[in-house]
Amino acid sequence: MKSFKSHKKGIEASKWIIDQIQILKLYRKINILDLASGNGRNCISLAKPNKIVTAIDRDKIKLGKYSKFKNIKTICFDLETKKKWPLKENFFDVILVVNYLFRPKIKKLIKLLKKNGYLFYETFSRGNEKYGTPKNPDFLLHDRELLNVFAKHLTVLSYFNGNVVEKKVSMKQRASFKKKTSY
Ligand SMILES: C[S@@+](CC[C@H](N)C(=O)[O-])C[C@H]1O[C@@H](n2cnc3c(N)ncnc32)[C@H](O)[C@@H]1O
Repeated sequence: MKSFKSHKKGIEASKWIIDQIQILKLYRKINILDLASGNGRNCISLAKPNKIVTAIDRDKIKLGKYSKFKNIKTICFDLETKKKWPLKENFFDVILVVNYLFRPKIKKLIKLLKKNGYLFYETFSRGNEKYGTPKNPDFLLHDRELLNVFAKHLTVLSYFNGNVVEKKVSMKQRASFKKKTSY
């Protein structure tokens, strides 16, 4: 079985996600969903005996790099077709979405979250066009868009929209939410 240490260098997790996830240390057993998980940079280090990760993406090759890791269940699936998502409702204690946006189905995340569960969402926003990709407006959030989508149903814990300096400058939106009631 591969160990987490064998994960490639140079594809570091989002620092913001890692900071948010500190709250999980308080929990004994949790289910984490990484939606559009890509090469697994955000979820691989989270998978522990008491932290079970479901990683879903349409890219079989990327998923294949960590599909054998302990405590990670990978699902190869196209999230943008009419097919029902193969994910249990009211099941996830934590949902991560990083650098992925598909507006027609974004609200589905609310039902997937368990009561008291957390949603951590980070992706590019309008203004990113001047720095690089993505430039397509379908992949760029409007200012306050995550609040407009989720705040009616989830409690807002944090919100940010602005320039971020990681390897390069980009425009990003980051928001975290907690689900207070069943939905
Ligand atoms: C920019 S990458 C981000 C990956 C990861 N969340 C991260 O932060 O490193 C976007 C990911 O979305 C996945 N993706 C794009 N369209 C998708 C779809 N229709 N269904 C499932 N995954 C999709 C891609 O395969 C890719 O891995």
